Amino acid sequence: HSLRKVASANDFLIGASVSSIPFLKDEKYRQVLKDEFNLLTIENDMKFAKIHPQRDTYNFVIPDLIIDFALENDMKVRGHTLVWHATLPDWIKDRKYSKEELTLILKDHIQTVVRHYKGKIYAWDVVNEAYNDDGTLRENIWLQTIGPQYIELAFKWAHEADPNALLFYNDYSNEGINVKSNAIFELVRDLKERGVPIDGVGFQMHSSITYSKDYKKIKENFARYKEIGVEVQVTEMDVKIQHSNESYKKRLEQQADMYAKTLNVCLSSSNCNAFITWGILDKYSWIPGFTGNKDAPLLFDNEYKPKPSHESIYNEL
Ligand code: XIL
Repeated sequence: HSLRKVASANDFLIGASVSSIPFLKDEKYRQVLKDEFNLLTIENDMKFAKIHPQRDTYNFVIPDLIIDFALENDMKVRGHTLVWHATLPDWIKDRKYSKEELTLILKDHIQTVVRHYKGKIYAWDVVNEAYNDDGTLRENIWLQTIGPQYIELAFKWAHEADPNALLFYNDYSNEGINVKSNAIFELVRDLKERGVPIDGVGFQMHSSITYSKDYKKIKENFARYKEIGVEVQVTEMDVKIQHSNESYKKRLEQQADMYAKTLNVCLSSSNCNAFITWGILDKYSWIPGFTGNKDAPLLFDNEYKPKPSHESIYNEL
């Protein structure tokens, strides 16, 4: 029951994010990764502070290892992420730069990283989480110092560095129809209209069985991107099962249902061609560290046993 086998047979991309610690120390982790997925993304090691820790130092060692593994095993790679408000190194956070200086820093960062992986990374999350939930632009260092044009500049610079890579805007809580997703849609439409190189929008889909999803609205949202020639992907899905009074078994079923229904929206939208989960097995998921609660948000349990969510995805594919 390999997800990869069915997905590949249908020309569909099924992926997972890779965490470097288990990747490096756990043979079984690498085995499951290549058996079950035909795409990977790197959970942390390409973020600004990791890959560009000092102004004149880039650190490509771990991403290189993971990406070589992907290419040896015929997997596609998504790059995550070039411009974000979080995981910034101290040399960016703790200093005040002029607009001109920070613009040059960001351009150098984007182009050095994208050039290093030219031809190896097929799609980039160029800008991540630039919007607030109320549809306004997030007040981050890029907006404050460079201004709102930092977004389109980032896409242009990435495109110059690798004209063949697909370029994505990625965010959370933007899958339905709401003020945030409307603002993002307007941004993307405007960029497309003005010829800024953007190819797709990523929907993170960090989810929970305790909040309901309006699948019709998600489908509608995906469809409006199709109309303007933009592809969409589910880029970071996980489904929390904490905060529920149901039995553990029931919760795993609800989780399996949410994964399958979300995948179904993607499969039934002709501009959606990839579905990625944020991790492989529960043991290494970021969720317990993030929420402070035990959880089991992924497709495999702590012993790499496929969960009901794995089966429901397999059946849906
Ligand atoms: C998370 C990682 O999973 C954690 O290990 C890290 O401590 C923080 O970042 N949205 C994103 C991802 O775009 O980069 C985040 O990843 C999860 C939320």
